[in-house]
Amino acid sequence: MNLRVVEKEDLPLLTEWANTPEFGGEYEPLSQESKTELEKQYDKLTPKEKWFIIKKKDGSKIGFVTHFPIGNLLTIDYTLIPDERNKGYCTEAVKIMVDYLFLSKDIVRIQAETNPRNLASQKVLEKVGFKKEGLVRKSIFIRGKWRDGLLYSILREEWKEPKILTKTASHS
Ligand SMILES: CC(C)(COP(=O)(O)OP(=O)(O)OC[C@H]1O[C@@H](n2cnc3c(N)ncnc32)[C@H](O)[C@@H]1OP(=O)(O)O)[C@@H](O)C(=O)NCCC(=O)NCCS
Repeated sequence: MNLRVVEKEDLPLLTEWANTPEFGGEYEPLSQESKTELEKQYDKLTPKEKWFIIKKKDGSKIGFVTHFPIGNLLTIDYTLIPDERNKGYCTEAVKIMVDYLFLSKDIVRIQAETNPRNLASQKVLEKVGFKKEGLVRKSIFIRGKWRDGLLYSILREEWKEPKILTKTASHS
């Protein structure tokens, strides 16, 4: 499994995912986005906001991980297609994302917010070494209601060293 930056050619698949309620699941906002709308968002991406496709070794695309700023704080988000859940892929993808972010950016923390009932997401974050910070009250509008989120973060000193990526490029 690996991560690769989203290319324009991935946008039809991302549009299909964005418009499939089972993809986001019960804890994510419903999004109905056209390919044109996604293309507009894609064209505005900056180094502070990037989208990555999670790709299996056989080449199939099974989900995405993104990072984006909320004020000065770098936040990540992730989703896998339902058939590929509970196989450890998201944990591996988030480990790679955290390695990449701490290796490539002068940042001290990475954060993620999840629904308090989204135990799978919390498990992923805990397995990667994120710590629970607390409840962010009424932070997200999902299915007609403002709902609380649980904020997690990992600090550079807690990460300590890369778990999957290496610090130096290999010379083969
Ligand atoms: C959250 C999500 C990304 C996790 O991806 P994944 O590839 O299934 O995650 P992993 O397999 O790496 O780890 C999931 C862990 O949660 C556990 N888990 C799954 N469902 C659970 C539940 N209902 N209760 C408790 N634990 C649960 C799994 O057993 C696994 O832990 P383990 O390795 O100790 O057995 C995936 O479920 C998803 O895409 N959900 C819909 C979108 C979403 O909620 N995104 C997160 C937004 S913050």
